[in-house]
Amino acid sequence: MAARILDGQALATRLQVDIIPEVQAFIGRHGRPPGLAIVLVGHDPASEVYVRSKVRTASAIGFRVDLERLPATAALGDLFTLVDRLNLSEAHDGILVQSPLPAAMGPEAEPQVFDRLLPAKDVDGFSPHNVGLLVQNRASVVSGTPAGVVELLEWEGVPIAGQRAVVIGRSDIVGKPLAMLLLHRHATVTICHSRTSDLAAVCREADILVAAVGRPGLVTPAFVKPGAVVVDVGINRITDWAQVEGLFGAGHPRLAQFQRKGSLLVGDVHPGVGAVAAALTPVPGGVGPLTVAMLMRNTLVAARARLERQPAGAGRQHP
Ligand code: GUN
Repeated sequence: MAARILDGQALATRLQVDIIPEVQAFIGRHGRPPGLAIVLVGHDPASEVYVRSKVRTASAIGFRVDLERLPATAALGDLFTLVDRLNLSEAHDGILVQSPLPAAMGPEAEPQVFDRLLPAKDVDGFSPHNVGLLVQNRASVVSGTPAGVVELLEWEGVPIAGQRAVVIGRSDIVGKPLAMLLLHRHATVTICHSRTSDLAAVCREADILVAAVGRPGLVTPAFVKPGAVVVDVGINRITDWAQVEGLFGAGHPRLAQFQRKGSLLVGDVHPGVGAVAAALTPVPGGVGPLTVAMLMRNTLVAARARLERQPAGAGRQHP
């Protein structure tokens, strides 16, 4: 039987619609909307797409949103100066520095920038303070993609407590925080990575399997226990016809889509997994839209905490 599709787009739309009256109420109380600053350094094509979607959604739900751009040649000091200004800005409740930063800024640039963000305005939950609160299960703001994955699982009624969850990928943005969120919901969690031996065998143990590595089609049916729930966090743009044909097989409708557009967005999960899994997130339209929706919620939470003096760390905890 074909896997049930977990429709992240539908949930994201619903979350965004639900937030609009809350934004209106905030404006009524404070005379201004929640303010979000998005910092984009350089012109990474994927980041351009993500940032456009964040700006569009934020303004659609009534936030003030300011896109602050720096050239790819900017020095780290320029970025620090911008972050310092936004930290002090009265109008901005949330700051997001889009990752990745240009490679020329060096491997330590991102952690240094996240160190510099005021934790109260860190709507990505990337600052060490907020990561610490997450580890202790008392975060009010959690990185959008992992928060979105859990939101979708809970919305779809997928049991988490007592289940075996395997997360492929150990990034600070997705893999590690997602493992924490699943652990706090009482899953037994394994994190896999590039040095995991017999990856397929470890993944076959999973009741919930999450792929977040950025390798098209990595998770084949051989990785999946029949009846597992599979979450595909990968968003890979492929431009090679042979790779598309290898993934989807001759005659698949997505081949025609590739021919029209010259490229295709695919996840880390092979299309054949749909015949083995009980439920599966699509790419596009699965986890991606939820990342944006959770960012909106985080910005509203940060704005309320700043202006309504709610105690820091009074987050969503899971006993
Ligand atoms: N790059 C990819 N995902 C994200 C995200 O959730 N936040 C930021 N700041 N950068 C990203």
